[in-house]
Amino acid sequence: MSNDTDTESNESTSNCGAKTDTSSDSGSKCGASSSDDSSSSKCGGSSSSDSSSNCGSSSKKETTEEKVGATVDDFDADPGQLIAVGLGPGHPEGMTQRAKDALLEADHIVGYTTYIELIPDEITEQAEDIYDTPMCGEVSRTEESVDRTLAGNDVAIVGSGDPNVYALAGLALEILESKGATASMVEFEVVPGVPAAQSCGARLGAPLVNDTVSISLSDHLVPMPEIESRLHAAAKESFTITIYNPWSRKRRENFQKCCEILLTHRDPETPVGIVHAAGREDEEVMITELGELEDLGESEIIDMTTTIVVGNEETYVWDDRMVTPRGYETKYDY
Ligand SMILES: C[S@@+](CC[C@H](N)C(=O)[O-])C[C@H]1O[C@@H](n2cnc3c(N)ncnc32)[C@H](O)[C@@H]1O
Repeated sequence: MSNDTDTESNESTSNCGAKTDTSSDSGSKCGASSSDDSSSSKCGGSSSSDSSSNCGSSSKKETTEEKVGATVDDFDADPGQLIAVGLGPGHPEGMTQRAKDALLEADHIVGYTTYIELIPDEITEQAEDIYDTPMCGEVSRTEESVDRTLAGNDVAIVGSGDPNVYALAGLALEILESKGATASMVEFEVVPGVPAAQSCGARLGAPLVNDTVSISLSDHLVPMPEIESRLHAAAKESFTITIYNPWSRKRRENFQKCCEILLTHRDPETPVGIVHAAGREDEEVMITELGELEDLGESEIIDMTTTIVVGNEETYVWDDRMVTPRGYETKYDY
């Protein structure tokens, strides 16, 4: 099973963070003062001796293990641009033209290895540097992207779907702020991508055309009792519910609890759509009923690359498609 998520990573064991070397060097940690050295990357990274890093392994292109890190005052260069780019579901046709252009314009592309591998070769080959972290967490990766930007590089930090949906756009702004920088200083921009809920909804038919709530079952950042109370609130009302981060070996119990909560408010026959790896080679789609969902937790279709769509009271299945009426039938004859 793939592990396509930020939340499986263990931040506390990450050795990729720029924080590891902030105290050791009074000068720029990115060679930012060498403004004449315009032909090469402005990420000197010589400040870090982190040779034991388990990050930055190569994917399509030679990657770097060089690290940078500091507060805004440690950088002498004019900051570059920082763009959070949403790649959409996975296939190149699912990327927006704006996303492709933003990646082509970036000097450095930063992201989780799985996401970097989703980017077409002709784009990654144009980049001066790719920084991908297969095992390290989203905080160190995002901090790396901010540091590289403050060092004068134009940086794109990428993620699947949309950068505003359980992703790194907000973290990038928070880290910029914590370093004493500003969003305008780095011309921070978010390039939207198609979120998993929409990609998966498209595979299932039309389940999302009325009010919808998204809930992530990842308890990495939000405690499980809070997730449970959100599930109760959403299931009690007439929302279609999209469930992100539904299952992992460590989260078996979260998934079971989620199914229990849904069944306390919704009929066991409520249609449920399950989409694994939308837009990727191993895509799988299933439409089932809420009463069957818990048992499917142990099957391959539900893992951390799956999004589950739980219909509302009016959702029905017609010709293998989930349909959630918008309400037109109450006003119009057709
Ligand atoms: C950390 S969230 C990132 C969401 C992403 N920013 C978005 O807009 O879709 C990761 C979760 O998104 C969902 N997901 C991401 N890509 C998916 C895909 N191709 N097919 C189905 N679900 C996907 C899964 O629920 C996964 O656990």
